[in-house]
Amino acid sequence: MWDLLVVNGHLATMTGDRPYGAVPDGAVGVSDGRIVWVGPRSDLPADAARRSREVVDARGGWITPALVDCHTHLVWGGSRVEEFEARLGGATYEEIALGGGGILSTVRATRETSEDALRSSALGRLDRLLSEGVTTVEIKSGYGLATPTELKMLRVARSLADARPVTVRTTFLGAHALPPEFADAPDAYVDLVCDEMLPAVADAGLADAVDAFCERIAFSPTQVERIFARAHELGLPVKLHAEQLSDSSGAALAAAFDALSADHLEWVSDDGVAAMAATGTVAVLLPGAFYALGETRRPPVDAFRRHRVPMALATDCNPGSSPVVSLLLMLSMGCTLFGLTPEEALAGVTRHAARALGLAGERGTLEPSRMADLVSWDVEHPAELAYMIGANPCRTVIRAGRVVRAS
Ligand code: NIG
Ligand code: FE
Repeated sequence: MWDLLVVNGHLATMTGDRPYGAVPDGAVGVSDGRIVWVGPRSDLPADAARRSREVVDARGGWITPALVDCHTHLVWGGSRVEEFEARLGGATYEEIALGGGGILSTVRATRETSEDALRSSALGRLDRLLSEGVTTVEIKSGYGLATPTELKMLRVARSLADARPVTVRTTFLGAHALPPEFADAPDAYVDLVCDEMLPAVADAGLADAVDAFCERIAFSPTQVERIFARAHELGLPVKLHAEQLSDSSGAALAAAFDALSADHLEWVSDDGVAAMAATGTVAVLLPGAFYALGETRRPPVDAFRRHRVPMALATDCNPGSSPVVSLLLMLSMGCTLFGLTPEEALAGVTRHAARALGLAGERGTLEPSRMADLVSWDVEHPAELAYMIGANPCRTVIRAGRVVRAS
């Protein structure tokens, strides 16, 4: 009847009206890589277990949709540990960037690093994420800042899915920083992004979306607008690093382009929040960057709630602002630093994270017809996923209907 049946666990389906969409003592049936049955175990057809090819016993724990990390810069060369030390000594992220360090220091290292070496360091970080029940990861380019090196990063990102049981969504972030060759000609660099890089990336089919960094140390709204218009011409959806360090009206700009998400958002205005609400743009909150940079201004979680803007949480894994390889830790920080509820935090790494990648209706909830990506956890309540710090209660990971991790 079914390829796989998961029993003996409580379901956090993350859909419906009940907290966590909970189904106590539930069961999930899987066929052809998709969920085909979800409900209380008592409603299962009588011979379901006997007629399923494989039965997974969740041993009384909780079963959730597998986690989605919807914002990472997982592929990079070099290290920025000396900047960490400089920041501890009082230097700010912006000062370091303006002095030619920051993103540009990773650009120098990434340009010089071979694809094999980039792949192997990214795999190490990816393995940390996967060990906590992640099965979908977004990975951005943006440390090449020239056509060949941006393509190199995207190829490496895509290739990770050949090496591990993970779905990779790639995002082209050519407008991450101004490369040194264009230091005196920012608009000429935007021309290059629009006229050469974007068509090359689209041609190669290497990106699922286009991102930019809209900030006073990066690109202006006018420049981002040109890039977004070109992305749309090429049929690519957009997202934006917006309002991380200052209010540049990036969120409203993102919404005007029907962006999948606007990310960071510590400085977003009420108008920006309202614009996002009108287009259903997801607010991707990144507490790792907030924490690591010692920021004090929190994103306006209450305003997002009031306007019903879906909130996602992600690691922003990168060598500068967020050297984070634990999505579960982001649940904890999302609650403790930003004031999310544990249920909001879990929705932020499942349902809403999937939506931030254009995968709503495909992943992020336990419902018939969704991809069978789910995790069983050794917890007595789903809030424990946000409560415990540094514990990894991940038991079994099922991806596309197959058990890919078991403990
Ligand atoms: O999301 N804000 C811009 N980009 C990254 C940081 C990248 C870096 O510092 O290398 C971020 O925080
Ligand atoms: Fe980022």
